[in-house]
Amino acid sequence: MLEELIQAILFILPAYFANASPAVGVRLIGRSTPLDRGAKAWDGRRILGNGKTLEGLLIGITAGTLTGLIFNAFISSLYRSPLEPLILSAGTMTGDIFGSFIKRRLGLERGRPAPGLDQLGFLAFALLFSTLAFGPPRWLNTLTLIFLAAITAALHLGTNYLAYILGLKSEPY
Ligand code: CTP
Ligand code: MG
Repeated sequence: MLEELIQAILFILPAYFANASPAVGVRLIGRSTPLDRGAKAWDGRRILGNGKTLEGLLIGITAGTLTGLIFNAFISSLYRSPLEPLILSAGTMTGDIFGSFIKRRLGLERGRPAPGLDQLGFLAFALLFSTLAFGPPRWLNTLTLIFLAAITAALHLGTNYLAYILGLKSEPY
């Protein structure tokens, strides 16, 4: 059980890096191009909003993929393919973008919290993408998944609060 949970956490680290790096990266490069180019959806609200940018997308996929490739070099058999970190990162960013799409349709402004969706949407999409590509990961079972979701939510809340204290984010969530 513990061994599977450790495997699960190591496996999902690219998703964490893909999810966390855009906020820092976009700030560092100091420019950002909204993915929706300012366009609005049928409801008159932004399709995605200014929080989802091209630069953030590229930074997230790059950071997540590199993280996974580095881990893969040290821990063989962590991934089913060297492409898996890229697929996990692409899933993460897709889930994040999908989450913003849902938030805007619910009338939530950019940066407002959507409890559950913000913390776990990217995780669900990362796991979905790698499962579609390579089948369910070896460590996957109900209990491990529940623990992984709990740890991910706690880490997400903790790191976002830290980023807020450090002045990297304007909201603590
Ligand atoms: N970010 C980005 N591009 C992405 C994802 C994230 O530029 N594809 C950056 C943005 O600066 C964003 C920050 O990372 O503000 C934090 O991401 P997130 O919390 O997902 O965005 P929010 O600003 O909270 O917007 P939303 O309400 O749409 O989630
Ligand atoms: Mg947010």
